[in-house]
Formats: sequence, C-alpha cells, structure tokens
Amino acid sequence: MTKKSIKVSASILGCDLGNIESEIKRIEKAGADFVHFDVMDGVFVDNISFGLPVLKSAKTKTDLSFDVHLMITEPERYIAEFARAGADIITFHFEATKDIKKCIEICKKNGCKAGISIKPNTPASEIFPYLGEIDMVLVMTVEPGFGGQGFLYFTLEKIEQIRKRADELGLDVDIQVDGGITDKTCKEVKERGANILVAGTYLFKADNMTKAVELLK
Ligand code: DX5
Ligand code: ZN
Repeated sequence: MTKKSIKVSASILGCDLGNIESEIKRIEKAGADFVHFDVMDGVFVDNISFGLPVLKSAKTKTDLSFDVHLMITEPERYIAEFARAGADIITFHFEATKDIKKCIEICKKNGCKAGISIKPNTPASEIFPYLGEIDMVLVMTVEPGFGGQGFLYFTLEKIEQIRKRADELGLDVDIQVDGGITDKTCKEVKERGANILVAGTYLFKADNMTKAVELLK
C-alpha cells in the first residue's frame, strides 16, 4: 500500500465561531496542516453552517490552506465562487450532483484541487470511475451534518477498497476521513490507507491542541 505522510485538517465547525480569528491562530500554532471549512445548506444536510463571506474573511487571517467541504445540493452552482473566495481544495458530495464531471472541471478551471465525498452508505465503487481525475476522496465516517458524532466503523472497509483501487491504477490520490476522528479511531483509518484526518471536537476540546495534533499524526 502507498504510504503517504499524515496530514491533519482542523474542522472549524467545532471551534468557538465568535472568535474565529484566534481559533484559526490556535490551529496554526498546534501544527495542523489545513483549515477544514464545512458548508451546509439545510437541504443536503439538516443543518446550516457558514458560507462565502466567512471564508473570505477567515482566509485573510492565515496562510494555512483551506479545505472546503461542500454539503450542498447542486454544488456546481457555487464551486467557482468558493474557489475565488480562497478555497484551495474543494470537496463536493457524490450524492449531491447529477454532473460529477462538471464539478471536477469547475474546480480545476478555477485553480482548485478537486475532491469527491461519499456518505457512509454510498459504496466506494461509485467514485472509482473518477479516481484518475481527482486529487482527493473524502470518506465520511459519520453521517454529514453535525460535529461531535460517533465514528462509524463499517466505513473502514471503503477506505481500504479505495486505497487498493488507487494503488492498482498507480494513482497518488489523497484519502480524507471526516467525523468522529480521535486519537483512538485514527489508528485504524491510517492502517486502511487514509492520509488526511479531519478533526473538530477532538481538537477543540483537547487540553493541549498541539499534543492532540501529534497524537493524530
Ligand atoms: C460533519 C462535518 C465534520 C465535522 C467533524 O458533517 O463534515 O467536518 O465538523 O466533527 P467531529 O470531528 O466533531 O466529528
Ligand atoms: Zn467536513
């Protein structure tokens, strides 16, 4: 199996949003690699979070790359705007669009890396046809919509299936996991081939965030 270095993406859904600037500084200091930015529209998921104006402002506070996770229907309507607002990687949901190719194309045309995310019950094989065209696969390890949920162990098998397929095809794709990631659950996801770990609750509730990032890595 391809061994890639482990990166941590801090989900600011779990931070004190009234103090987003200092929270982002805290992420930076702790040694996280990305800011994970969860966009929810209240339609694709049962929750509404934040969007373009917050991203634009947050982007001016740090040099960290922004990893934008779009939990919105028909993401093709907004990908270009999120790219212009400062997203470095844009991940949209397989289940949210009828035109995957178009979504990938808009990411790339606007200078962004492209990722596809699958919900826990979506089979890994659904994204196999696109593996050669994307930079990252996000395997949701909880149902998207809320932070602080328990890790779903049945998703582990999909990480392994995707890494195996990517290796067979000789593709250097990143596999990200999101939801319920802690110092306990991170071990298995890494063993199965995930290399970018999103964490919200675990990092922001930690007594020592630097130590928490180290433990994940
Ligand atoms: C859930 C979001 C996650 C969430 C993870 O839909 O995509 O990024 O913030 O939160 P934790 O780490 O608390 O499970
Ligand atoms: Zn997310």
